[in-house]
Amino acid sequence: SIIVPSVQEMVKEKMITTVPPRYVQPDQDKSGVTDDSGLIPNIPIIDMKRLCSSTAMDADSELVNHGIDPCFLDQTKLEIHDFFNLPMEEKKMFWQQPDEMEGFGQAFVLSEDQKLDWADIFFFIIQPAQLRKPHLFPKLPLPFRDTLEMYSAKVKSIAKILIAKMGEVLKIKPEEIEERFADDMFQSMRMNYYPPCPEPHQVIGLTPHSDAVALTILLQVNEVEGLQIKKDGKWVFVKPLPNAFIVNVGDVLEIITNGIYKSIEHRVVVNSEKERLSFATFHNPGLNKEISPAKSLVEKQKKCAKFKSLITKDYLKGLFSRELYGKAYLDAMR
Ligand code: SIN
Ligand code: FE2
Repeated sequence: SIIVPSVQEMVKEKMITTVPPRYVQPDQDKSGVTDDSGLIPNIPIIDMKRLCSSTAMDADSELVNHGIDPCFLDQTKLEIHDFFNLPMEEKKMFWQQPDEMEGFGQAFVLSEDQKLDWADIFFFIIQPAQLRKPHLFPKLPLPFRDTLEMYSAKVKSIAKILIAKMGEVLKIKPEEIEERFADDMFQSMRMNYYPPCPEPHQVIGLTPHSDAVALTILLQVNEVEGLQIKKDGKWVFVKPLPNAFIVNVGDVLEIITNGIYKSIEHRVVVNSEKERLSFATFHNPGLNKEISPAKSLVEKQKKCAKFKSLITKDYLKGLFSRELYGKAYLDAMR
């Protein structure tokens, strides 16, 4: 990745009234459709308690009754907020270095003339522990580091249950799921800070994409809307339920299920008044495991594998060597 400035600092210090050219992306379709009932969320709800008797899961849903104490989630949110509000001097030691993808900055920026998202992110690998970069997670302030350690474990076990359930529904041999999502399973975290923008229609908070992982568990850190999913070709706001997680099916689950579960394309739009914060936790098979359609499923379908097989390590290498663009990376796997 290329070193990028902090959008948060820029907005805070300069009191800007127009968007710098590097962030101007007026060709994004900003029409958003929101269901106006205001009460019921527009995406399916997974009740973790009832999950065992349910039969299906959608590509994008909200997870309730997940068993994580709401006080703990509030604490996590508060600490993420405080982390982004640390003085720049302290955040600098976590800033991305040239050709690094972890740390503060932006992801998938490969050239100086690439358009930038209206956001700062903090991205790092947390599991397996031996992959942690010494200057990142271990250097995070306390109690933040301990909170994230606990959050990581809780969310990982939820992800494992959901992935296992999805495999079960499709009658994939349990071993094929267990092997890919064993103790070496890969987990990374991405915290997003979207500052308010004087010209929100000129920018995009997060470029449209699907997640190149199996499953993403997303926590809305504050109550501000901004996440949209592409549904029937239209951008639709996701309305967060308090204390629910947003669960995204990623490209890797689409590959493993040979195209049955579709990854969800999403993006973030920003507004002129309020900052928005979110926290995504990504789950993938272990680095040396294979990302490929499950054999038992392909045999049962009597179809061909629709995607190539790739070792996770190589899959991720390919991912970070290109710009993020819709579902283009998944299409390259066909
Ligand atoms: C993401 O896709 O990583 C984050 C989405 C969000 O900010 O809600
Ligand atoms: Fe995403």
